[in-house]
Amino acid sequence: MNFPKEFLWGSASAAYQIEGAHLEDGKGMTNWDTFVRIEGKTYKGTTGDIAVDHYHRYKEDIALMAEMGLKTYRFSISWARIYPTGNGEVNKKGIEFYKNIIDTCLSYNIEPMVTIFHWDLPQALVDEYNGWESRKIIDDFVNYAKTLFINFGDKVKYWITLNEQNIFTSLGWLTAQHPPGKFDEQKMFYQVNHHAFMAHAKTVLLYRQMGFTGNIGASFAYTPSYSLDCKPINAMSKLNYDDLKNFWWMDVYAYGRYPKAAMTYLKKKGFAPDFEDGDAEILKQAAKHISFMGVNYYQSCVCEYNPEDGVTPYGVMNTTGKKGSSTITGIQGVYKNPPNPYLMTTDWDWSIDPSGLAYCCREITSRYDLPIVISENGLGAFDKKEEDNSIHDEYRIVYLNEHLKALYKAIEEGCTVLAYCTWSFTDLLSWLNGYQKRYGFIYIDRDETDKGSLNRYKKDSYYWYKKVIETNGNSLFED
Ligand code: BG6
Repeated sequence: MNFPKEFLWGSASAAYQIEGAHLEDGKGMTNWDTFVRIEGKTYKGTTGDIAVDHYHRYKEDIALMAEMGLKTYRFSISWARIYPTGNGEVNKKGIEFYKNIIDTCLSYNIEPMVTIFHWDLPQALVDEYNGWESRKIIDDFVNYAKTLFINFGDKVKYWITLNEQNIFTSLGWLTAQHPPGKFDEQKMFYQVNHHAFMAHAKTVLLYRQMGFTGNIGASFAYTPSYSLDCKPINAMSKLNYDDLKNFWWMDVYAYGRYPKAAMTYLKKKGFAPDFEDGDAEILKQAAKHISFMGVNYYQSCVCEYNPEDGVTPYGVMNTTGKKGSSTITGIQGVYKNPPNPYLMTTDWDWSIDPSGLAYCCREITSRYDLPIVISENGLGAFDKKEEDNSIHDEYRIVYLNEHLKALYKAIEEGCTVLAYCTWSFTDLLSWLNGYQKRYGFIYIDRDETDKGSLNRYKKDSYYWYKKVIETNGNSLFED
């Protein structure tokens, strides 16, 4: 029972969720620095001002990764550290910080996997042209990426252009839960996505034009769907869901074109994005140059037909950890996502479905025949630090173990999987859920009140993953 020899056992993070030091060493304000200050937007008003202080403690954190035997560390670069106002002059201190992170990783033989954009956008670009709403962002993004390639291209062999474009745009423009906090801007939502696709595509092409042969792709938040039952109307709702919620993104990354039925539907509704001359060709060209499909997998969903007067996308999201407090959402006349009676859920109402991870891999392999990077997978849970500083997170071990077994099955069935990154290495800020929703192997002593020593403590899952890596996955199958 062995994973491929070169398999990259990894773990992931994102700049805003771990770094803190939000205005240090020349970093500019970001959309998130602004958004978290609006009352009621985040759980108990939490911010990433300090986060888990990785900016000052990165050496300690990466040493813990090395001790664990981690093969790859996925992290994101904060655009506003490199370009405090989004463009213009480069902030040398920002380059230096990420150079240190990359060099520290390499000194331990940890492969750095860099996300270019994990949601924190320089506020100056929002003030100047509303960020992703303007095509101007395409050139600024590519210019920022070029700076990263110039500075780090020789050392970094794995690049992720955008993290979960589907999530930051949905929560930003449809449900107002992320910046810019807009509600029901359907036409703008698809336009913003088109700009993001163009930024991604031009970045991929630039990377190749610069002569780099490393790996590049985007990370997609993939929630695979199951039809509620064999009632044809529910099976069709699954098909529509897949086109609108999954293939809308993955088809563009992998084929350079939007799914036809979804595009037809959106044109009728008046929500389809506007193209400029040359866009279609650029998307097509870039699709030929991606190296993998990045997948962030947390849960699967169920699809059922949703009548014209049924539920809307604007339900209640559980951000408190009070089980059962979220409500069903969907698109009227198309689909809705009721709970799956066969699956258990987390305290935040996310279904727990290891086989869904294999399902994602199988679908990607059949539809796109691309290698896969699992760029995130993990369990958000309440953890308790005992008096002796131990943290017994058996539930996380079971969760990850089962997901990895499912991943192994997918590999056995013919999928090429290059890497698997857990979310997350240390505990960190969960965007809307504060610090109480913990994901890490390393417990960090802090809470929503910004109190705590910020000391690091290894959870039981830390030792478990260490063994998984040591045995290249063999220990997953021990009882
Ligand atoms: C993904 C994001 O959506 O899921 C991460 O890429 C995020 O940044 C993770 O933290 C878990 O989500 P949440 O809402 O539980 O923090």
